Amino acid sequence: MSYNLLKGKKGIIFGALDGNSIAWKTAEKVHEEGGTFVLTNAPIAMRMGQIKELAQKTGSEIVPADATSEEELKNLISRSMEILGGKLDFVLHSIGMSINVRKGRHYTDQNYDFTGKGWDVSALSFHKVMQGLYNADAMNPWGSIVALTYMAAQRTFPDYNDMADNKAYLESIARSFGYFFGKEKKVRVNTISQSPTPTTAGQGVKGFDGFISYADKMSPLGNASAQDCANYTVSLFSDLTRKVTMQNLYHDGGFSNMGVSQEVMEKFSE
Ligand SMILES: NC(=O)c1ccc[n+]([C@@H]2O[C@H](COP(=O)([O-])OP(=O)(O)OC[C@H]3O[C@@H](n4cnc5c(N)ncnc54)[C@H](O)[C@@H]3O)[C@@H](O)[C@H]2O)c1
Repeated sequence: MSYNLLKGKKGIIFGALDGNSIAWKTAEKVHEEGGTFVLTNAPIAMRMGQIKELAQKTGSEIVPADATSEEELKNLISRSMEILGGKLDFVLHSIGMSINVRKGRHYTDQNYDFTGKGWDVSALSFHKVMQGLYNADAMNPWGSIVALTYMAAQRTFPDYNDMADNKAYLESIARSFGYFFGKEKKVRVNTISQSPTPTTAGQGVKGFDGFISYADKMSPLGNASAQDCANYTVSLFSDLTRKVTMQNLYHDGGFSNMGVSQEVMEKFSE
């Protein structure tokens, strides 16, 4: 069902790699709700990914940008305003990557070059995106910027490794930049703390299958899917949430407020 919630709104969507990506589902939903956008991803991911298919389906153009490169982000922002014919109303940052996780380095045995690169891609890139938007005065008043995060920023999930630290930093950037974007430009900035979701990035985490089914059993509403996340993001891009800013919003079926559930208790009561 579509409500035209984003009719006339324009934006940029980072991070659609394949049909499982949260950004992919979000792009489809934003299109359904009448929004128009530019799709972007790292040049290397675009060679591997199927983003052209999504662009065709949603009538969008693709502008490659490595989110760690200020130059490429600057180009992306000015090209997007040209393509879309004006300033932007929404931006989705859906980017994450840890080389320590990828290479199987334990949290207590990090390679700090990997740590620095993962932090740049997963956390600092959010600041770079916002600084680029802010300095180009690229956002319309009452625009909305959203990044995706995970609860390992607040609680310990050992196999989430250095991504936990990256997410804590990312959430802090949302608060700090949210202040300036709110004060100066009337733009809101939030992070969505999403349930474990079976995507390329998600499945890179060691023991992901156990992780996702534990979360599902702990959550009274069950895990939120990528599609659920897309729906929630659309609400944050819409005019119905204009005064929500500087928040980390849990979108996890209730997991974040649980102590223990009946299903999990039963596993330990043999
Ligand atoms: N999957 C989960 O369990 C889960 C849970 C909570 C939050 N998240 C977050 O959701 C976001 C999206 O991840 P996803 O699960 O859809 O996985 P995904 O692998 O589909 O998306 C990650 C994206 O990051 C992009 N990326 C990596 N390096 C980049 C760079 N240098 N420049 C630009 N883009 C780059 C990748 O190309 C990819 O498109 C991430 O921030 C992730 O941490 C995921």
